[in-house]
Amino acid sequence: MKILVTGGAGFIGSHIVDEYIENNHEVVVIDNMFHGKECNVNKKAKLIEIDIRDKDLWRVFEEEKFDVVCHQAAQISVPTSIEDPIEDAEINILGTISLLECCRKYDVKKVIYPASAAIFGEPKYLPIDENHPLNMQCGYGVTKHTVEHYLDVYNRLYGLNYTVFRYANVYGPRQDSNGEGGVVAVFSEKFLSGQSPIIFGDGEQTRDFVYVKDVAKANLLALEALDNGIYNVATNIEISVNKLIDVFNKLTGLELKAEYREKRFGDINNSYMSYEKIKNSSSWRPKYTLEDGLKETLDFYKNLQKND
Ligand SMILES: NC(=O)c1ccc[n+]([C@@H]2O[C@H](COP(=O)([O-])OP(=O)(O)OC[C@H]3O[C@@H](n4cnc5c(N)ncnc54)[C@H](O)[C@@H]3O)[C@@H](O)[C@H]2O)c1
Repeated sequence: MKILVTGGAGFIGSHIVDEYIENNHEVVVIDNMFHGKECNVNKKAKLIEIDIRDKDLWRVFEEEKFDVVCHQAAQISVPTSIEDPIEDAEINILGTISLLECCRKYDVKKVIYPASAAIFGEPKYLPIDENHPLNMQCGYGVTKHTVEHYLDVYNRLYGLNYTVFRYANVYGPRQDSNGEGGVVAVFSEKFLSGQSPIIFGDGEQTRDFVYVKDVAKANLLALEALDNGIYNVATNIEISVNKLIDVFNKLTGLELKAEYREKRFGDINNSYMSYEKIKNSSSWRPKYTLEDGLKETLDFYKNLQKND
């Protein structure tokens, strides 16, 4: 298949590109390089530097003729979505609509799209399933969710197929320490430089950490399955931030103690997500344990430090 991966120079997008190429698909990446890096992009992919809001976006579609679009490009910062909701909506909503218009005009068959656990706010019950009520606390959650509706509308109006994945906290190599769910990247850097990690709150807050290569596998599967549905991509495992520190200490052989600071406004207490729906509809399962994923992540940051 010929696939466009938007945001393919970023963290998750670049792993999806690798997965597609490993499985013999032809991949074109578009990225405005705001947060992406050329070194993340697989050498076998074609990289085009363009913003999804660019009026000439259609030219890429006309020239390349894609079967599937995997749309990872986004404004991903929750604070930015609060400080500059217009920029957030311009990229995440209007930019996505421009992309969907190109998909419609140039006969793309399917769009794969990542939504986020940011749409749930403080959960009403755990684990969060796909029917959990929405309770968005920031513009980012609103913009990510709005696109879910647009995808459904484009499917009804034009037969454009889609798969929506609601990722839990994705972690792994190439993650920027400022990104959504970037706690693993931040802690990796702290541990490799022997500095105490900082925890906001008492550390008993929990998250669901899903490894980026498992996420990439879900995006591979969606090329030919899971049409017109919304699926959590998660581990169904609740890990406290204190527990995360324990695993880092175990893997690095250190005994670092966290420094505790006041809980940040808006941080949710507990969250983990069920992957029952995707499990019942496909062969997808999270394959990486937290230890295995963190080991690979630490190795990545170790190499990065060596080459600096
Ligand atoms: N990281 C997580 O835990 C997580 C969780 C849920 C959902 N997501 C979603 O997954 C997707 C990828 O996230 P990520 O963590 O890899 O972030 P990332 O910032 O590493 O990747 C996003 C990429 O999009 C590019 N981009 C941003 N705005 C663009 C624009 N206007 N035009 C073209 N390119 C643009 C950036 O340069 C970057 O390379 C996003 O849609 C995000 O909302 C991420």
